[in-house]
Amino acid sequence: MSDINKGDKPHRNDHASPGFSEDKELYTDEKLQQVSRENDEPEELNTPIPLFVLLVCALLIFFGGFYFARYSGGFKGDVFDPNWQPGGGVAKVAAPFDPLVQGKKLFSRTCQQCHQADGKGIPGVYPMLAGSHWLLNSEERPIKILIKGMSGPAVIEGVAYNGNMPPVGDWKDRDIAAVLTYVRQAWGNEGGPIAEELVAKIREEIKGQTKPWTPDQILAMHPL
Ligand code: HEC
Repeated sequence: MSDINKGDKPHRNDHASPGFSEDKELYTDEKLQQVSRENDEPEELNTPIPLFVLLVCALLIFFGGFYFARYSGGFKGDVFDPNWQPGGGVAKVAAPFDPLVQGKKLFSRTCQQCHQADGKGIPGVYPMLAGSHWLLNSEERPIKILIKGMSGPAVIEGVAYNGNMPPVGDWKDRDIAAVLTYVRQAWGNEGGPIAEELVAKIREEIKGQTKPWTPDQILAMHPL
């Protein structure tokens, strides 16, 4: 390189020698020095992963495998089944349907807001279910009231009402039977249970009724 530096410096505008191309003129000492000052091309280093990182990874993989094997439950589909019994696997029969349990649930979710938790209602606004002859001395009457609703003036257990009982006709027969079975034995009531089949039968009989019953309609069909 020093040899080159000693030579005559060609200049850009020196056209003394014919055929001296522009390209060649660019390789001046200055240029060569600049090139030699540039950094080396970067090259890949081959640094090994630190041993402790490898160790930690190995431990994690081992722990993961152990945990998986220990808690995978043998990859059986029923491990989270609430009916699973130790040794016996999953109980095949679901808990039997209890109309009183289901009826109580439905009552507190739907009817209680009006007829109150103690079944006494609010005199003059929501009639009582506790001791109500409307509810207790006919099986068909309360079924009809629940499926289609009831609206208009009524005297219930000596108190006048003119309210609006919303229908629950979109419920399953079984649920209508369950809630009536529940209210007919709650608070000391002594009405018998209501069968799902009776609800289905009455639903069929009254399917032509499009509006809620008036209390007079109900009493005409089922006198107190
Ligand atoms: C929005 C308030 C309301 C809800 C909810 C309601 N009822 Fe009623 N219920 C009434 C009213 C008001 C009457 C009286 C209607 C009238 O004046 O014509 C009535 C009447 C009745 C009657 C006949 C009268 C009596 O006291 O025996 C029965 C039985 C009855 N409801 C049962 C139920 C059941 C069971 C449920 C839940 C599935 C329910 N009701 C939900 C307001 C309600």
